[in-house]
Formats: sequence, C-alpha cells, structure tokens
Amino acid sequence: MKIFAIESSCDESAIALLEIEKGKIKILKNIISSQINIHQQYGGIVPEVAARAHCENFFPILKESKINIKNVDYIAVTYGPGLITSLMIGVELAKTLSYVYKKPLIPINHIEAHIYSNWLSHPELFSKKTFPALAVVVSGGHTNIFLMKNYGKYQLIGNTVDDAVGEAYDKVAKILNLGYPGGPIISKKAERYQGLDLSSHLKKGDKDDLNFPRPMMHTKNFDMSFSGLKTAVLYKAQAEKKWTEQKINQYCFSFQNAVVDVLTHKIIKAAQKYKVKNILLGGGVSANQELRNILKIKADQLGIKTYFPELKHTGDNAAMIAITGYFNRANAKKNNFSLMADANLKL
Ligand code: KG4
Ligand code: ZN
Repeated sequence: MKIFAIESSCDESAIALLEIEKGKIKILKNIISSQINIHQQYGGIVPEVAARAHCENFFPILKESKINIKNVDYIAVTYGPGLITSLMIGVELAKTLSYVYKKPLIPINHIEAHIYSNWLSHPELFSKKTFPALAVVVSGGHTNIFLMKNYGKYQLIGNTVDDAVGEAYDKVAKILNLGYPGGPIISKKAERYQGLDLSSHLKKGDKDDLNFPRPMMHTKNFDMSFSGLKTAVLYKAQAEKKWTEQKINQYCFSFQNAVVDVLTHKIIKAAQKYKVKNILLGGGVSANQELRNILKIKADQLGIKTYFPELKHTGDNAAMIAITGYFNRANAKKNNFSLMADANLKL
C-alpha cells in the first residue's frame, strides 16, 4: 500500500511517499521545504508570510519529487491543529489532488502524527504489547502527556497550563538574543557549558545551576507550566551586569536543566501511576539529547522502555503524516470536499 502525505501546519512545507507491505515500512520520499530562513529575520513565525511561502513551495517540491499520484492508494493531509492559514494551503492542495486523481483522502491530526513518528523507525511497536503506553508530545505548540491505551485511543492526562515547552525555548532564546528557533541553539550552548554534568538532574543542587524555578513540578496532577520559568530567566537576565559567552552558556544550561527536571519528573510519575510498559516521545523538542538521556536513565531504573523518533522525524515532516494515515485509513473518503482545516483540533 502506498500513502502520499502533505504537511503544512506551521512553517514547513512537506510531502512524503510511504510504502507499507505486511508491516514493513519504506519511506520512498520525504521532502521538507523549510521556511526557517525567512522567519529568522522576524524572530518567529509570521502566519501570513508562512502561508505565502507554502503557496510558493508546494508545486516545486511536488515536481522535484517525481511522485506519480496515479500510483498511490491514499492521500493523507494534516488538517489541524496549527496555523489556520498554513493548514488551509495543505488541505486545499490535498482535496484538489484527491479529486483529480480519484484517491481517498485521510484527514490527519498533527499531534497524533508526532506520536506515530516513532513507528517509522521502531517496527517492534507494531506489536499489541506496546499498550498501554505513555505518549508525550513536546513541540512548539504542545506539551501533552497522553495515556495511549491502543491505536487511536488517547486520554489526555497532562498538559501545559500556559506556554508549550518549545515555545519556552524559543522565547528564552529571544531574551538571550540567540535567534530562532531556540531549541537547537540553547541545547548546543548548554552542552558547551563547562560545568556540564549529564547526571546533574539526578542529584540535587548542582553548583553550576542558576536554579531557575521548576513550576508545578510537585503538584499532584501531570499538568505543567513553563511561562514562569521563562519570566525568571528574563528577570535574571535584565539584572545581569556583564555578559560573557560562558555566562550565556550557563543560562542555557540552567534553563534546560529546569525544563528537563520538570518534564522527566512528570512523565515518570505518570508512567508509574498508569503502569505503562513504554514511553513514546515525539515533537520538535524530542530532538533534545539531554531530555532523551535523562528520561531513558530514569525509565530504565523502573524497567520502562523509552522510544524516540529518529532526529529527522522529530520536527514537522510528512513521513509521520503518512504513517498516521496508515493507522487511520478507515477514515478515508473520496470527494471529501467538506474537509476543513481546524486550527484548534484536539486529540
Ligand atoms: O514539532 P515542531 O517542529 O513544530 C510544532 O509542531 O510545534 O517543534 C518545533 C519546536 C520549536 O519550539 C523548537 O525550538 C523546538 O521544537 N526544538 C527543540 C530542539 N529542536 C527543536 N527544543 C529543544 N531542543 C532541541 N534540540
Ligand atoms: Zn509539529
């Protein structure tokens, strides 16, 4: 079975072609046209600029891919959540291709796709034994902990009450004048910090840590907050008299320590409460090596397995939309003209 997929929820115009035969996955094409260079000059994503860039990007990448849509079985497209103007471009393109080539169209939830990105590289997840699992989506728009009871069965058990974790990375990078997107830059600088000690999260009171707050870390539920942490960085930075390279690296190191402490603490607590066997991480922030390392160490101690997508599948891409299409192919419809982008789609 071949699935062609389109992703345009934010600032990446992406298409992919996936072949699945008897549980064996082949990613035949996976093309991303990134708009990062355009948005860098604004320090963040400008929705109208993103939508215009999607319009410019899709036809060239379609042509370059040489994908013959006549030969595919399904078309899958992200219809939410995300920026409405960006989503609309992908949805209308998919509806048009589906109509012209008479192919059934599968609507895809972007958050679910970040979870299923793990199935692209870990065939053992196809086993029924995967469930119940904890599925955690950490991205620029979401910080969600789901109890995943089976394919397509999610219970949201933890959420951010304010900023998403990736958003906090981006805002802190802006405060420290480091550019956009913040995640990759901050994590590199944190690594460069001389005092880096991988196990600093596992013992209390690293002397090099600026000890930024860990908001809501010890509340009983699994909700999180990252906006107070960002404000704490802002106030400390405003009072800072002398900036050196090392000082900036220390801010990045300490901010990341706080983020990783809170996230791994909440994830592990939830995993214990719901007695899951597997933890699946997904989304742009799941590229973070420190988060992966610490989560794995803590989960290993409890005999819980951790799964992370390959780095190339952590950020927005269409291969994850295609694999999600595979699991949702029962929702496919021909002539689905009424499909509309939904910026606030929930999982
Ligand atoms: O999943 P994604 O590409 O888009 C959304 O669906 O939001 O996530 C983008 C987010 C950005 O906030 C970016 O700063 C963050 O992922 N990010 C990272 C890293 N790489 C990207 N955050 C922390 N560490 C990273 N290595
Ligand atoms: Zn995403």
